[in-house]
Amino acid sequence: MASNLFIVANYATKMSLVASFFAPVIALQFTPMNTTYTKTAKSLHWLMAALIGGLIVLGLIMTELPLSPDKLTLYSWHKWAGVTVFLLVWIRLGWRITHRPPPLPSALSARGRFAAHAGHAALYLVMIIIPITGWLMSSAKGFQTVWFGILPIPDLVGRDRELGELLQQAHKLLNYGLMFLLAGHVAAALWHHFILRDETLRRIR
Ligand code: HEM
Repeated sequence: MASNLFIVANYATKMSLVASFFAPVIALQFTPMNTTYTKTAKSLHWLMAALIGGLIVLGLIMTELPLSPDKLTLYSWHKWAGVTVFLLVWIRLGWRITHRPPPLPSALSARGRFAAHAGHAALYLVMIIIPITGWLMSSAKGFQTVWFGILPIPDLVGRDRELGELLQQAHKLLNYGLMFLLAGHVAAALWHHFILRDETLRRIR
């Protein structure tokens, strides 16, 4: 009898652990459709937009400067902001998975829906890959990143000049891809706002 009770209690504990693990996912399925993004999603969107815009401008300027202490300072700022984007993108993805975003406008065609989903997925992908190539490049070139001058980020690869050059090219090319995606993203948002006059841009504000 006592052993039966123990088995039931053990089973109930396991089931409650399983239930608490899946609770956020189950709750998500029954959450009513939102018409706007959460405050956190909006803040993450605009914070990352500002950081990424700044990183691109800084990246393009700093690489053109002659070697000087100022150039090295700008490189450090770029690397700190890049690592910050890398951390934020995981928080953002976690938030995105646990908080259902509002649905796309119902008037959008199947092709438009596909383009929106593919564009967003590609943006998430480059927001992960670009900082990784920057981090790897810095390691391969022998310049360890020390986040805000405080936290040393471990070097992922040993010093390797050739690999460093290759990663530099990859970082550059991926950034051109990012600029292309961003241009499409901004153009689509403006198209929705000014031509289709729907809620797409307003709901992320
Ligand atoms: C989303 C994040 C990032 C964006 C948007 C970005 C953007 C850029 C851009 C536009 C350039 C100039 C490319 C060129 O025309 O040569 C650049 C260069 C550079 N980035 Fe990033 N970057 C990011 C993350 C990082 C990270 C995390 C690191 C290192 C920890 C890093 C390290 C570098 C370095 C060292 C260069 C200079 C390469 C050279 O000397 O040519 N970046 N980045």
